[in-house]
Amino acid sequence: MPDSRVHADTDGDRLEPQERSQQRTETPLDEVFGDGFDRQLIVVSNRQPYRHTVDDDETAVDCPVGGLTAGLDPVMQALGGTWVAWGDGDADKQAVDDEDCVSVPPEQEAYTLRRIWLSEEQVDNYYYGFANQVLWPTCHGMLTNVRYEHRFWQHYRGANEAFAAAVADQVSDDDVVWFHDYHLALAPKLVSRTVSTSPTLAHFWHIPWPSPETFRSCPHGRSILTGLLHNDLLGFHVSRDRRNFLDCVDATVPAATVDHERGEVRYRGTTTTVEAIPMGVPVDEIESLVREQRRAGATTSFREAHDVPPDVTLAVGVDRLDYTKGIPERLDALERFWEQRPEWRGDLTFVQKGSESRSQIPAYRDLQRRVESRVETINERFGTADWQPIIFTTDELPRADLYGLYDDADVALVSPLCDGLNLVAMEYVAAQLDDDGVLVLSDRAGAHDLLGQHALSIDPTATDDFASTIGRAVSMHPTERAVRMHELRQQVAEHDLSAWVNEFLLAIDELA
Ligand code: G6P
Repeated sequence: MPDSRVHADTDGDRLEPQERSQQRTETPLDEVFGDGFDRQLIVVSNRQPYRHTVDDDETAVDCPVGGLTAGLDPVMQALGGTWVAWGDGDADKQAVDDEDCVSVPPEQEAYTLRRIWLSEEQVDNYYYGFANQVLWPTCHGMLTNVRYEHRFWQHYRGANEAFAAAVADQVSDDDVVWFHDYHLALAPKLVSRTVSTSPTLAHFWHIPWPSPETFRSCPHGRSILTGLLHNDLLGFHVSRDRRNFLDCVDATVPAATVDHERGEVRYRGTTTTVEAIPMGVPVDEIESLVREQRRAGATTSFREAHDVPPDVTLAVGVDRLDYTKGIPERLDALERFWEQRPEWRGDLTFVQKGSESRSQIPAYRDLQRRVESRVETINERFGTADWQPIIFTTDELPRADLYGLYDDADVALVSPLCDGLNLVAMEYVAAQLDDDGVLVLSDRAGAHDLLGQHALSIDPTATDDFASTIGRAVSMHPTERAVRMHELRQQVAEHDLSAWVNEFLLAIDELA
């Protein structure tokens, strides 16, 4: 059994620090990231890259492997600097010095993690409130999940002030402050108002940006926009989000001048350049982990543990248990598939790996219950003594095992209802060393812009079409599989993690 703190997934689970460093290739990191970038970097995100916890009276350190934190940690290790984030671990306070700083990674001490502290009330109202019950559903266009209370906003502002104050402590003139995501929309304005120096402010918005029609209903939407317009550079994954952002500024901030063609906004003396730069995954690391798993004979361990015979086709879905991920709709399509294609009963097993997430919020708890009950119904309807149609697990899965599962899976079903990018789709592709997997991909994921041509595209809510696409995926001829996967792997390699970092840092350099 894996250690209970070793929790792996691409979007919010955790793994141990040494596991993360073992995944690295031999290339020196500063040759990979930010070659020639010589400015001091201050990264600011809600989630921290390392968390101290107490386990049986001993302090342990673990790391989230969410795309954002796992992706930026090697960059910070290469370039040094400071990372400001919320210290949410129960032993975080004991680990820091008088200035709330700790050197990380624990065994290498390559950069400084500056922790900020949030009270329970702040977490309830800023994180579970405004960030995850207002901005998250609004930006994903799922307005029925929006719940707003005035205190959410007060605490959102308060938490952003705390992040901004920590940045102001650290920053000097030529530094680059790189904010991440929707938790911190006000921080750029607060920093620019507080500091007497003039650092470059940049922000990457990892989730979608909605159309003006949707954004119109966002409480304090104008303040969110003007907060972001204190950045010199603002990044989105895909051009649709960049366009929506510019349209929202046009519609909501009369004092701003928007140049749609150049992607520039002038507002109160600041020019914000808005770019679409899709994030990527560490392809070399994934490939070498898959190779290691193969050498250790571990790529079929999931199958073996769950008694899935080698000749049964395996399809996989890996998601945080979030209502944007389209998991119930995916289960509907699978049920339709087994209904219409009884010859596949017993011959296709679907593995859904889910990671519990934000479960204090009713919509997340409801989603988890819905998924569990759909899985139960389908398994009861079609399952036999020798075959369980769907294996649903929230068990922790070390990252190497996850890649082993990808390697073993014949098909991946990635069917979000709305998604900024979707790194699972990219990781699955990166793990297909033999070009033999099939990616079924929602046309509503940002990743579809890059991968849609060679994946099998679906509308996640069109159950019949989705079901017949599953049929096409599981019976695709090996030659077609190879051609499609080869193209997909090229795309994913070209837009890997280092390409994203380098392009973003280059865009910062070009601002000057
Ligand atoms: C998404 C967001 C990230 C967030 C992650 C996990 O990918 O873009 O900012 O860290 O989900 O969610 P959590 O609420 O656990 O940080």
